[in-house]
Amino acid sequence: MFRTAALYFFTLLAVARGQQAGTLTTETHPSLSVQQCTGSGSCTSLSRSIVLDSNWRWLHDVDGYTNCYTGNTWDATLCPDDVTCAQNCALDGADYEGTYGISASGNQLSLQFVTQSSQKNVGSRVYLMEDETTYQMFKLKNQEFTFDVDMSQLPCGLNGALYFVQMDADGGVSRFPTNKAGAKFGTGYCDTQCPQDINIDRLRTSVQANVEGWEPSASDSNAGTGTYGTCCVEMDVWEANSMAAAVTPHSCTVTEQTRCSGTDCGEGDDRYDGICDKDGCDFNSFRMGDQSFLGPGLTVDTTQKITVVTQFVTSDNTTTGALSEIRRVYVQNGQVIQNSKVNIPGMDAYDSITDDFCNAQKEAFGDTNSFEQMGGLQSIGDAFNTGMVLVMSVWDDHAVNMLWLDSDYPTDVAATNPGVARGNCSTSSGAPDDVESASASATVVFSNIKFGDIGSTFS
Ligand SMILES: *[C@@H]1O[C@H](CO)[C@@H](O)[C@H](O)[C@H]1NC(C)=O
Ligand SMILES: *[C@@H]1O[C@H](CO)[C@@H](O)[C@H](O)[C@H]1NC(C)=O
Repeated sequence: MFRTAALYFFTLLAVARGQQAGTLTTETHPSLSVQQCTGSGSCTSLSRSIVLDSNWRWLHDVDGYTNCYTGNTWDATLCPDDVTCAQNCALDGADYEGTYGISASGNQLSLQFVTQSSQKNVGSRVYLMEDETTYQMFKLKNQEFTFDVDMSQLPCGLNGALYFVQMDADGGVSRFPTNKAGAKFGTGYCDTQCPQDINIDRLRTSVQANVEGWEPSASDSNAGTGTYGTCCVEMDVWEANSMAAAVTPHSCTVTEQTRCSGTDCGEGDDRYDGICDKDGCDFNSFRMGDQSFLGPGLTVDTTQKITVVTQFVTSDNTTTGALSEIRRVYVQNGQVIQNSKVNIPGMDAYDSITDDFCNAQKEAFGDTNSFEQMGGLQSIGDAFNTGMVLVMSVWDDHAVNMLWLDSDYPTDVAATNPGVARGNCSTSSGAPDDVESASASATVVFSNIKFGDIGSTFS
């Protein structure tokens, strides 16, 4: 994510049900099959499932059904302070399809943007699980990761994202023994924005809720920020809508999920003084000078399903070598389409992400190079050594309307300045109120996930 991600939502259960706390709704992870492939191009199907992030879940008192958190405020009785709140409140299971618009079938996952049940839910974020209590860990050095995506129903302002973050495999249970929910309930999220909007994770990963210092958002009735953030390395394989797409590694100076407060979180004026690189080193074909490569009816046609291949090349072509290059290939209608080439004054015609590309891009665009300052590709490679968790989400952007992805950004300089134009969306597009009402039924569909040796997942 370039900015803080997503909205979240907590169910107000209209009808009381006489069951134990934390089990009012049974947690049943939707199944999703993926494939692991080897050099010869032979693939094995793996039965996996997905889990909804904890921040979207109903958080209620452990003995009943009173909300601990409603809209964007905490219940003052149950949650007078972090520690008491952590003791009083529990997460519950999710109705994936009915409440959250998440449906999985075979190898296909569909995430609907707005779902109206007894409450309105906006966006979602899910993780791939290896089993009931463990996230699938991806070690992708000298490997490739491939998936199909249908973005035809994602307009300006939305983001259908597929990415990796360095979460704990168990959601934080072993490092933080008070975490009783764990990966089964989608705990332990972190990314390079060091999000401070996460409440229950503070509760689960540090014995505390994020109650103290909580400030409800002025613009978002479902959000707020607390004292603590949660940081870790992030590899954005795909952040996209029908108008633009970016692949973006983000580095960190920390090597596991780490709680931040104060300057370390890198909020506002501290943006470049935190422990993670918020900007990342992005390759967005439009921004990199090929404005007619990816979009409706273009070379990579976003009105149709697209196969997206991402290769994590190492310096010596082994899984232990240093990550040296992130390559992108597309496949559509049986045609293999090589990535677009950079066409920016002062830059070579790069077609992949390397440290040289990142340095040249930051220089050409006059951007702060926090990606290299915080470790560059080495940081991403190190995270893949321990393993990263696969995230899929759909979201809108309360900070800057997704203009950093699909429009001109920043908006206070000429759009002709190098690096400002990122897509053809209008600078007035993407306001959450607008997209949530005009494009409620927008959906992203991810399918056919494959990973394995380079060259084994597509042809
Ligand atoms: C952006 O608009 C220009 C001018 O109409 C067009 O040539 C180009 O293909 C468009 N690109 C995308 C990605 O929509
Ligand atoms: C790694 O593989 C690539 C592509 O096959 C090749 O061009 C390169 O020389 C290899 N590098 C090493 C260090 O073996």
